[in-house]
Amino acid sequence: MSRSAHPAGPRHADVLPEGHYTAPPADLNALDPKVWAETVTRDDQGVLTVGGIDVRRLAEEFGTPAYVLDETDFRSRARAWRTAFGQDADVFYAGKAFLSRAVVRWLHEEGLNLDVCSGGELATALSAGMPADRIAFHGNNKSVAEIRRAVEAGVGRIVLDSFQEIVRVAHIAQELGKRQRVQIRVTVGVEAHTHEFIATAHEDQKFGIPLAGGQAAEAVRRALRLDGIELIGIHSHIGSQIFDMSGFEVAAHRVVGLLKEIRDEHGVELPEIDLGGGLGIAYTSDDDPREPHEIAKALTEIVTRECESARLRTPRISVEPGRAVVGPTAFTLYEVGTIKPLDHLRTYVSVDGGMSDNIRTALYDAEYSIALVSRSSDAEPMLTRVVGKHCESGDIVVRDAFLPADLAPGDLVAVPATGAYCRSMASNYNHVLRPPVVAVRDGEARVIVRRETEEDLLRLDVG
Ligand code: LLP
Repeated sequence: MSRSAHPAGPRHADVLPEGHYTAPPADLNALDPKVWAETVTRDDQGVLTVGGIDVRRLAEEFGTPAYVLDETDFRSRARAWRTAFGQDADVFYAGKAFLSRAVVRWLHEEGLNLDVCSGGELATALSAGMPADRIAFHGNNKSVAEIRRAVEAGVGRIVLDSFQEIVRVAHIAQELGKRQRVQIRVTVGVEAHTHEFIATAHEDQKFGIPLAGGQAAEAVRRALRLDGIELIGIHSHIGSQIFDMSGFEVAAHRVVGLLKEIRDEHGVELPEIDLGGGLGIAYTSDDDPREPHEIAKALTEIVTRECESARLRTPRISVEPGRAVVGPTAFTLYEVGTIKPLDHLRTYVSVDGGMSDNIRTALYDAEYSIALVSRSSDAEPMLTRVVGKHCESGDIVVRDAFLPADLAPGDLVAVPATGAYCRSMASNYNHVLRPPVVAVRDGEARVIVRRETEEDLLRLDVG
């Protein structure tokens, strides 16, 4: 597409509207390795490449928008988590962040376990050959059919989320002549997100059984009485996009407190503790996530210390990172469409996707960055809002982004760190077709989830 001349729109600090930005970055062509996948770089011409492949070639071959996933990066992050926790702990990848059969195979090969939270995720995991005993099944409202399927398949654990479910799982397992390993998910009274954590009000939510008021202790009492289930541990998940370990510290303290109560009352030392997921990643250069080995060290120390002071054997620890494994490994590749400068405000840049492939900006006010990737540019920075093609003014991909002022229709742009909760939360809003996931590794690209087609839409619509 030819480059059309258009006014560049506002650029200078004195005319910038309110927003989540400070000054334009010194170099718009720079790629911060914190937010881009491992093998992403720019070639001599300034074109972004991933796994050695030029993004213009990816766009030509697979179309846009597309999620481009760096398999090398995925595997090395998975391995880093596995290695960091060692053989005395388990890492369950949280499939809700992004799940496909290729991903299941990579996880299997890299020695990770898998957390699923629906019949659909379970079916994907089993169909790709994940051994059932390495699967944990979660959810606050698992159906009887889902529970039956999980027990029949022989999943390693079911995480019980309510009093009713304790009985339901025990009953189904007994009916099937099995003894199902289970954990009980408790709410510890801590909800942590990003930098802060709050220690009130968080029991007012749908997950888990509160420690408060002895409810969790009562759940344990009931679980220990039932033949169909074997209680192997306590589970806690405190939030999302967490950088500060102090929330885990409080959670571990309270969970170990429960383990101690259980030991004192029943003479049983439960062998496992699961601290959930929620570890943060860098969406923009302002975020500073910790490395898996630092997180593993911190969590292991916290649990060990708490158990020593409670005179308990340290249980086997498990964690459930989703975002921190897959989030940074993918970017979304879009083509620039219309460009609309608004005087004294900013320039609206429309791309060929939007809230149907990334709902996180609209839903959580999430922050992302974006870069021109089909070429480099020395043009001055222009303040933009990158929006999608949907019929909704909240259809924003990147709220405040500096892009080069010579940006033009037909340019390719990419939003990094979209590996987690973008494809998995994608929709068909406006009957926009969900993009493919293209995995790239060592100069080869292959579709692991294909692009949706109009036939797919019409097949569901039975007329
Ligand atoms: N384990 C449990 C029990 C969970 O509920 C979750 C996330 C995870 C593990 C994985 O958390 P992660 O490490 O990926 O943060 N849609 C939201 C995130 C919702 C997460 C719900 N549970 C988002 O886009 O940020």
